[in-house]
Amino acid sequence: MSGISIDAKRAEQFYSGEEFTAMMERAKSAKEKLLGRMGEGNDFLGWLDLPVDYDKEEFAAIKEAASKIRKDSDVLVVIGIGGSYLGARAAIEFLRHSFYNNDSIAKNKYKAPQIYFVGNHISGTYLTELMDLLEGKDWSINVISKSGTTTECAIAFRIFREALEKKYGKEGAADRIYATTDRKKGALKTLSDAQGYKTFVVPDDVGGRFSVLTAVGLLPIAASGADIDALMEGARIAREDAFNKSAEECGPLCYAALRNIFMEKGKSVEILANYEPSMHYISEWWKQLYGESEGKGGKGIFPASVDLTTDLHSMGQFIQDGTRLMFETVIAIDKPRAEVIIPSDDADLDGLNYLAGKTMDYVNKNAMEGTILAHTEGGVPNILIHMPDTSEKSLGELFYFFEFACGVSGYMLGVNPFNQPGVEKYKANMFKLLGKPGC
Ligand code: PA5
Repeated sequence: MSGISIDAKRAEQFYSGEEFTAMMERAKSAKEKLLGRMGEGNDFLGWLDLPVDYDKEEFAAIKEAASKIRKDSDVLVVIGIGGSYLGARAAIEFLRHSFYNNDSIAKNKYKAPQIYFVGNHISGTYLTELMDLLEGKDWSINVISKSGTTTECAIAFRIFREALEKKYGKEGAADRIYATTDRKKGALKTLSDAQGYKTFVVPDDVGGRFSVLTAVGLLPIAASGADIDALMEGARIAREDAFNKSAEECGPLCYAALRNIFMEKGKSVEILANYEPSMHYISEWWKQLYGESEGKGGKGIFPASVDLTTDLHSMGQFIQDGTRLMFETVIAIDKPRAEVIIPSDDADLDGLNYLAGKTMDYVNKNAMEGTILAHTEGGVPNILIHMPDTSEKSLGELFYFFEFACGVSGYMLGVNPFNQPGVEKYKANMFKLLGKPGC
């Protein structure tokens, strides 16, 4: 049974039992449509079965490549954008030490390379400064692009490939480049085959933002030394629950229903809140998942996020007291990775002795409860999601929980959650301005 649970107690004052029952009926129909593969975008549902039906040979090859990278590289440069990097970054930042990329920590604690992400913007400054960091180090590249033609990613790959070839020669560089892309087509596949790079597959029926449990996410995550078997096992457990539990006991179904209740009451913004800095990129991954899946045809809930308590000192005022347009979903980690006990101080000049002997997590949890209470009193409905701990297994469960809820919620909203037609618009304008041939 999944350790992820949903607590809607603090939301109940904002809707009636009848409203919930009616919305759950819609959620059940949406789930049937999803599992029956009867809805729009049903050729992109490969992610539904990934935790139980994945290419075992490729999985073994991912582990082998990760182990080689861990042996021969001080740094792994991961090139990708959107769904081609957010899941891996979310997982690594969540599962590893807060200062993972500090040389001594990646190497000594995890026997792993530092991992830097690039190709997710078009900043020459960032590229140059990452090059400075690579000076004198051994490094490898994992370039990830399903289409193989994404501009941000292609520019970064051209530059880092050239630098790698300069350092190791063409053949030596080829031995350090890992390309995750389409099985058969696209510029990156053609280039990789021509140059002899090791390739991994983004399955045809898995869209970028649903691809964290394919080589897209798994290779960088495994390179960081995290346990990808446990990650998949967590996702498998969450899938089992999502498929088989009764509607009222099915967390992702309840979450999808609650979001739609609030949206229909005029709450068009959902704020995902966390109380651990290591969750920042989980929110970024979640924003892309829901933003790109639901925001279309003039519909959708705008996904926003805050890191707390940090942002209580910036966004707290608005959430408490500004335009009443949002509801809040909080992810609480029941057992944090580390505990700190607040010491006693004889002079007590800072007046903190009333907390002496208590843990920081005790204070954090009380801050969370106090904030939830304040926000609900301020008219912001609250959904609380409990995550038992910071393990790979729990993260696998969380990834699948949100993916499944997203598919259901998108169908409830009446959109195709698996396409992204709006993303093309900026590309068309940019290519025209840049004078790309044929545009
Ligand atoms: O979710 C998606 O499909 C997108 O965000 C893509 O992941 C993103 O645009 C990158 O595309 P590609 O992997 O083709 O380079």
